[in-house]
Amino acid sequence: KYEIRIIALTGAVLTIFLSALLFSSFSRNIDVPACIPYSKGFTKPHFRKLDDHNYEVYAVAHMWTFDPDGISIPKGSTVDLYLTSVDVVHGFNIMKKGVNLMAVPGGVSKTTIVFSEPGIYSVVCHEYCGAGHQYMMGKINVT
Ligand code: CUA
Repeated sequence: KYEIRIIALTGAVLTIFLSALLFSSFSRNIDVPACIPYSKGFTKPHFRKLDDHNYEVYAVAHMWTFDPDGISIPKGSTVDLYLTSVDVVHGFNIMKKGVNLMAVPGGVSKTTIVFSEPGIYSVVCHEYCGAGHQYMMGKINVT
């Protein structure tokens, strides 16, 4: 019947998407941003050194800044970034690293970023979030 074919087609398309995602995360070693279960703890900004080259950041987006809005780390650092928002939907874009996340109230986006080159990495909000949107930015200083 017609419906069966539609269901099969939907299944096939989903399978293709899923394999593409798995393919990019494993074989090509690209870190695919993940959504992890939300907890209130993530709304508390937090920056922690785990060891000499591993850091953990809970970044909280709100109108119109990120908290923390700047961190300094040595080059070669790996940063586990957990991102959420406490008001509206914001974006989190590190142009130089090709990092592109959404900050969603009630949700947490997680990604891992390796900073092998020193420099100043600007973070911008790329999701329109009100009057102060264009001033919403942060900075990662890699020395
Ligand atoms: Cu936050 Cu635009």
